[in-house]
Amino acid sequence: MYIIGGTASKSIAEDLSIELDAPLADTISKRFPDEEFYTRVKDNISGEDVVIVQTSYPDKNIIELFLLQNAAKEAKARTITVVIPYFGYARQDKKFEEGEPVSAKALASLIGLNADNIITVDPHKEYILDFFSTQAYSCSAVPEIAKYLVDKEIDMILAPDKGAINRVKNASKIIGCDYDYMEKNRIDGETIEIKPKNLDAKNKNVAIIDDIISTGGTMAKSIHELKKHNAKDVYVACTHGLFAGDAVRKLFSAGCSEIISTDSIISKFSKVKIAPCILPILGKLT
Ligand code: R5P
Repeated sequence: MYIIGGTASKSIAEDLSIELDAPLADTISKRFPDEEFYTRVKDNISGEDVVIVQTSYPDKNIIELFLLQNAAKEAKARTITVVIPYFGYARQDKKFEEGEPVSAKALASLIGLNADNIITVDPHKEYILDFFSTQAYSCSAVPEIAKYLVDKEIDMILAPDKGAINRVKNASKIIGCDYDYMEKNRIDGETIEIKPKNLDAKNKNVAIIDDIISTGGTMAKSIHELKKHNAKDVYVACTHGLFAGDAVRKLFSAGCSEIISTDSIISKFSKVKIAPCILPILGKLT
């Protein structure tokens, strides 16, 4: 078996290679002067089970993923398992208005063309796994995030909306603290409203866990609400830290004590490794 790491997810590929005791393929990756991407897998992967690890975000990493999949196919790999730590475009999982694409489905059908198995982490909605024509599995980074939070003396874990309640329930079991949720209403892509809720947050250390932080709007409003309820330290944690625009500034000026995300998208807040969540599924498939 060979592990191939795309440029967006090299460190996860390295972690998986060490844990599975499988070689990390030697690859060449470069851009032509016109910005088109070039890649080459130097090892002979013919007849091998191949695991390609690449986050499908931002757009340039999607092209790289397609090229790596094609390289594996052309080299006659025995099986191709694609690990997508962050599955970009997952939030457009239906037509919100007539004339729109179902972007998650579009991406899934293209990735599925050269894949036997797909694994992704904390997809925005589980049902997007059905968009793949091949076997697709998901795992969650929340247990690893909870382990990171164990030392922070957290009194309560919060979900920014009711839909994410199971995520925080699991984390609260690991940490051994209470859990609750905020009442969120999305007005449009960039505007949300966090409705006041009778939270018992006074003098408590609170961690808010979400799947994605993009503009930071959801978290910033949740932090404001908690501070109004006299919370002590507020930690914000997510699986996928996109941190679009001035998200980071927004979070700190709202009063957050620490930002935590995983390495599904590399940033200075990638404090939690995602490989341990992927291993159990990968272990069963390979
Ligand atoms: C939405 O349902 C997601 O779970 C996140 O809450 C959302 O994507 C966060 O986006 P933003 O950081 O832009 O508020």
